[in-house]
Amino acid sequence: MTTFENGQVGEIEQVFQALAGTDRQVVNVLNTIQEHYGYLPEQSLHDVSRQFGIPLANLYGLVSFFSGLRTRPVGRNQIAVCCGTACYARGSEKVFTRLKETMQLDADGTSEDGFVTISKVPCVGACSLAPVLSVNGVLEGKIKPLQVTARLEELQRNDSPSD
Ligand code: FES
Repeated sequence: MTTFENGQVGEIEQVFQALAGTDRQVVNVLNTIQEHYGYLPEQSLHDVSRQFGIPLANLYGLVSFFSGLRTRPVGRNQIAVCCGTACYARGSEKVFTRLKETMQLDADGTSEDGFVTISKVPCVGACSLAPVLSVNGVLEGKIKPLQVTARLEELQRNDSPSD
């Protein structure tokens, strides 16, 4: 269920026009739309389906194949769990699982209330601090699974839904 405001369809048309004469590969188009909206609104997938003659089901299959593409807006807070070798060896997978279970995330890694989006990222270059989280772009090291709940509560106290 996507809210698609008046004018957005026209904006998607502009995206197509901007790509005219250039590489119009469908993934590039999807990436461009996502850059514009931050995610892929349902209507945009219908438009891409029509423009490229690709059945909608196939398009959703493509979207689910590329982990960087998402069909919902990202959460107001973004937590990335490093899954590089050092972090993995020091328990980042348990940290990720704890976050996922605590927040009951959907397939896009976003909580139902839009509070947070959680993802896995490759080594962020702070291996001596493993396991490492990036919380809204700020690295936090030596995270233990048991600290996750308190960290989320702290984040929730500072969270301000915009609507
Ligand atoms: S493996 Fe996580 S910071 Fe390098």
